[in-house]
Amino acid sequence: MAVTIIASFSSFFLSLILSTAATTAKTSGFSVELIHRDSPKSPFYNPLESPSQRVANALRHSISRTHHFLSSGKNDAPRSNIISNAGQYLMNISLGTPPFPILAIADTGSDLVWTQCEPCQCYKQDAPFYNPNSSSTYKTIPCSATQCKKLQGTSCSDEFDPESTCIYSVTYGDQSFTNGDLALDTITLSSTSGQPVALPNITVGCGNNNDGTFNERGSGIIGLGAGDLSLISQMGKSIGGKFSYCLVPLTATIGSSSKINFGSNGIVSGPEAVSTPLVRKTSDSFYYLTLEGISVDGERINVSGSFALSKGNIVIDSGTPLTVLPTNFFALLKDAVSSKINATQSESTVQGLQLCYDNSERDIKVPDITVHFTSADVKLKPLNTFVQVNKKLICFSFIGRDGGAPPIYGNLVQMNFLVGYDTQEQTVSFKPTDCTKA
Ligand SMILES: *[C@@H]1O[C@H](CO)[C@@H](O)[C@H](O)[C@H]1NC(C)=O
Ligand SMILES: *[C@@H]1O[C@H](CO)[C@@H](O)[C@H](O)[C@H]1NC(C)=O
Ligand SMILES: *[C@@H]1O[C@H](CO)[C@@H](O)[C@H](O)[C@H]1NC(C)=O
Ligand SMILES: *[C@@H]1O[C@H](CO)[C@@H](O)[C@H](O)[C@H]1NC(C)=O
Ligand SMILES: *[C@@H]1O[C@H](CO)[C@@H](O)[C@H](O)[C@H]1NC(C)=O
Repeated sequence: MAVTIIASFSSFFLSLILSTAATTAKTSGFSVELIHRDSPKSPFYNPLESPSQRVANALRHSISRTHHFLSSGKNDAPRSNIISNAGQYLMNISLGTPPFPILAIADTGSDLVWTQCEPCQCYKQDAPFYNPNSSSTYKTIPCSATQCKKLQGTSCSDEFDPESTCIYSVTYGDQSFTNGDLALDTITLSSTSGQPVALPNITVGCGNNNDGTFNERGSGIIGLGAGDLSLISQMGKSIGGKFSYCLVPLTATIGSSSKINFGSNGIVSGPEAVSTPLVRKTSDSFYYLTLEGISVDGERINVSGSFALSKGNIVIDSGTPLTVLPTNFFALLKDAVSSKINATQSESTVQGLQLCYDNSERDIKVPDITVHFTSADVKLKPLNTFVQVNKKLICFSFIGRDGGAPPIYGNLVQMNFLVGYDTQEQTVSFKPTDCTKA
């Protein structure tokens, strides 16, 4: 197979790769699109509906609209945008009343939805900071409230007053952090039809002190994880625990977008789709899958030892670029891959990447790699397995690392797959897809 290689990284992205691979945190994104009837301006708007009911209604309406439009060949089902930004995937939502637009990292590896808020000791961002005083629907949450207890590391702004504001402090795997007030506010999502839908009383973080591996295009994180405070969990039963996204390749133009779908539209099916059980661990934000082995040009290496013993041995994370494996297993994989490549290894100029080649003289053929999850074989493309780090160097997008953080199935290996999560059926599905056209 001729090698088509991947993307070039900005130097920012390189630091992002290294810092996030060390851990768990960042990524991926979405915005919802809704329908006319749920607009606050619509005569059908019901301010007493809970967020879940409102999304359910939106989906129901959109489903009937889809049927209605079938004859005209249009599909107006609910979906939203995931925007590529140098290795991160951002999604746009609006926060507060009146709606204030926010572009933030869409992250299946964490739960809290937060943005940078005034007054702020913040990292630099292009957009203005959110001012909670300007939102009529913003309301801080007291530290006695259940939402405050659902998050670790919260405290009371006045330690003697349980009705004082809930102060949160979240640190991600790469040591990025956010601290601020926990609050309720309205989140507004857009829809394919362009009509906004408002979800009142969503628990959000208003971050007054934030720093880490963020870039100035994003204003916080939209947590899409498995825990109670994630946007997915707060949208509730209305979406049936289902969503899907498609991450465009890094080679796609910066700013290209793809879609995130919710509810039944998030179901991934078809002859090329494969599904694997989703493993939930108690009170954990992560979505775990079970990795059984990896094949290199058809030669299979099975996981072994303690890595093989537990179901749910790897986290699927849209926010971390590289795929991180235990060092023993990675060593076998690296040997298998390098034995198939007729070229001399080069030193990586980037600390952390562990298998690199100089491809400035000629194209390098890389082997076919298939990832074997329980009952799902995912055949990767060269763009998933090797990244062009600079003009001369391509590097393997898998690394070996031991330590506290769990193994991670990162976002580079997910590019150009439609990835569907069904938290009710407890499955994750993969379907090869050209995400620039999805
Ligand atoms: C939002 O919560 C507040 C109390 O925190 C309540 O008064 C209000 O009715 C709720 N609004 C909706 C639409 O559920
Ligand atoms: C998201 O971005 C699109 C395209 O710029 C815009 O039309 C939409 O209104 C935005 N959605 C929200 C919720 O701000
Ligand atoms: C918000 O309003 C309060 C009370 O008027 C004021 O003390 C505070 O400085 C304002 N905050 C911002 C960020 O404008
Ligand atoms: C790996 O595991 C699979 C499934 O359990 C088994 O069929 C296969 O023989 C094993 N292969 C090797 C090389 O151990
Ligand atoms: C390996 O690469 C060298 C240099 O490009 C070439 O001469 C040789 O034929 C290649 N060997 C194989 C087995 O492809």
